[in-house]
Amino acid sequence: MCLRNMSLILQLLGLILLLEFFGCNASAHYTFVIEKTPYTRLCSTKNILTVNRQFPGPPLFARKGETVIVDVINKANDNITIHWHGVRQPRSPWWDGPAYVTQCPIKPGSQFRYKVIFTTEEGTLWWHAHADWTRATVHGPIVIFPKVGSTYPFPKPYEEMPIVLGEWWKRDVAQVYRQLLRTGGDPNVSDAFTINGQPGDLYPCSKQGTFRLSVQEGKTYLLRIINAGMNDNLFFAIAQHKLTVVSVDARYTKPLTRDYIVIPPGQTIDALLVANQSPNHYYMAARAYSSGQGVIFDNTTTTAILQYSGHQYTPSSFPSFPYLPFYNDTASSVSFTGALRSLASKDHPAKVPLMVDTQLISTISVNTFPCRSINNSTCQGPNGTRFAASMNNITYRNPSVSILQAYYKDMIKVFGESFPNRPPLIYNFTGDFLPQQLQTPMRGTEVKLLDYNSTMEIVLQGTNLVAGEDHPMHLHGHSFYVVGWGFGNFDKNKDPLRYNLIDPPFQNTALVPKKGWIAIRFRADNPGVWFMHCHLERHLTWGMDTVLITKNGLSPRAQLVPPPADLPPC
Ligand code: C2O
Ligand code: CU
Repeated sequence: MCLRNMSLILQLLGLILLLEFFGCNASAHYTFVIEKTPYTRLCSTKNILTVNRQFPGPPLFARKGETVIVDVINKANDNITIHWHGVRQPRSPWWDGPAYVTQCPIKPGSQFRYKVIFTTEEGTLWWHAHADWTRATVHGPIVIFPKVGSTYPFPKPYEEMPIVLGEWWKRDVAQVYRQLLRTGGDPNVSDAFTINGQPGDLYPCSKQGTFRLSVQEGKTYLLRIINAGMNDNLFFAIAQHKLTVVSVDARYTKPLTRDYIVIPPGQTIDALLVANQSPNHYYMAARAYSSGQGVIFDNTTTTAILQYSGHQYTPSSFPSFPYLPFYNDTASSVSFTGALRSLASKDHPAKVPLMVDTQLISTISVNTFPCRSINNSTCQGPNGTRFAASMNNITYRNPSVSILQAYYKDMIKVFGESFPNRPPLIYNFTGDFLPQQLQTPMRGTEVKLLDYNSTMEIVLQGTNLVAGEDHPMHLHGHSFYVVGWGFGNFDKNKDPLRYNLIDPPFQNTALVPKKGWIAIRFRADNPGVWFMHCHLERHLTWGMDTVLITKNGLSPRAQLVPPPADLPPC
C-alpha cells in the first residue's frame, strides 16, 4: 500500500530505496466506470460508450513523477481496455492497454486496476480506450504538472484549458466498425468534428451547445490541445489570434508562434494564447488535413467561441473566422511540423542518441487483398478488393492471447520474431505509378526484438501504394526524437547528413508526410512489449502496425515487473 504518509515516514527512516521498490509516489486514485450514456448531438440522441457518463471523459491530474491508480469497471456490453497515451510505464507494459498486445480486454461485468506511472513526462497527454473502435468516445486528457517547487519554462499562464478535438458519428460507432470489417471498403466518415465534445455553430441543432472559452483582455491562457479524433489530421486556428506552441507530447519545445497548428490523432500540443485583441467574440475552428488523393474524409468544420469577458461591448453578430489551410495543403502541414524544436535547455535537455546500434527501415503502406469472400464479407475496396495496410509489407494480425503474456510465458508460437529490418521489396516507394501486384501484403504477427539499452533509429518510409497520404505513427513505451524527414525515398547516404541531432522534437506520435519519410531515434531502455502503429484508426484496423519488444537488461532494475494478479483472462 502506497500512501503519502507512508512515503514520508519511510523517507524519514532513510529508506528511499525501499520506497522506489514499492513504486511509491501514489497520489491519486480514480475510478472509471464504463457505461452507455445517452448523448444528443446533430439533432439526434444515441447511446455512447463513456467513462463516468462524461464525453469527453474526465481528466487525470498528476505531478511529474507520481503514480496514479485507475480502477476501470466495465458496466457496458463491449470489451474495453484503457491506454495512457505517451506515458512511458517503465518496465510495466501490463498497464499499457492495447488489446491483445499487452492484455486481454476487460470483459463486460469485470474490472482491472491500472497503474499509471509518470516519470519524465510533463505537460499534456491523454488516455483512450484501445480495443476495436471504442476510443471514439472513451477518451480524456492527462495533465501532468511540474514537481512541487519547479515551474513551467514560460511565464505562468493566467488560466489553463484542455481543448479536446474529437469526431462524432450519427451512427453507433461499433456498427461503423463492424461494417468496415465486413465490407472491406472505406469506413463511413464521421458526421462532425467536435471541440470539447461540441460540434459548434456550423452544424444543425448545435448552436446551443457550442463550447465557449471566456478570456480577459491582456491575459495569457495555456491551451492543452489534444486530437482525440479517429481518422483525420486537423488544422486548428483562432481568428485574429496567434498560438505559441510551448510543448508537444508532454515535452517542452522552443516557443513557436503560428497562425495555425497541425495536429494528428494521438498528438497533444500545448499552446499559449494571449487575449490581446479588441474585446469581442472570435471563432476557433478545426477541419481535416487529408492529403490522400481520392481518400474520402469528413470535410466539415468544427468551431468554438473565444469570448472576451469583463467588458461592456456588443459582440459582432458574425464572429470573425480564422484562416485554415486547404484540406490537402501538405506544404502548410510540413511548414508547421518541420519547425518544431525541443526546448533543449539546461533543465530540459535533449538527449539525442548520436550513435545508432540498430537501424530499422520500414515502409508504411495502404494495401489491398484480392477478393476472397468469407462469411458474409464483401469486397468494397478499390477494384473489388479488400483494404489492408502494412509495415514492411506485413499486415499485422492480433493473436488470440496478448503478446506480452505469451512472451512472458515463453509461448513464442502466437507470434514470430522476424519483423524485417529492411523493406522486403525494394521499388520506387513514392513513385506515381506503381504496379498493382505490389499492393498485396503478407499477413502475420511478427515482432522486432530490441536489445536492452541499445540505440535505435527507425526510418518510416511512406509509399504511394493505393494512395499516398500522411500517417501519424505512434510508438508505445518509448518517446523518440524526430531527427529527420523528407519527401521522396529515404537516401541512407545523403539524408543522415541533414539530421538535427541538437534539438529535434521529442514525440510519441509523428506525422510521416505524404510521399515522404521520417527518421526517429531513441534508446531502448524500457523493457516491455510496445505497440507501434498508425494512429489513423482505419489504418490501425487494416494492419499498419507492429510490435517492438525491448528485452530485459541484466540488473533486476532493468527487467519487467511481474504481472498483476487481476490481469484479465482471454
Ligand atoms: Cu493513442 Cu496505440 O495509441
Ligand atoms: Cu496511416
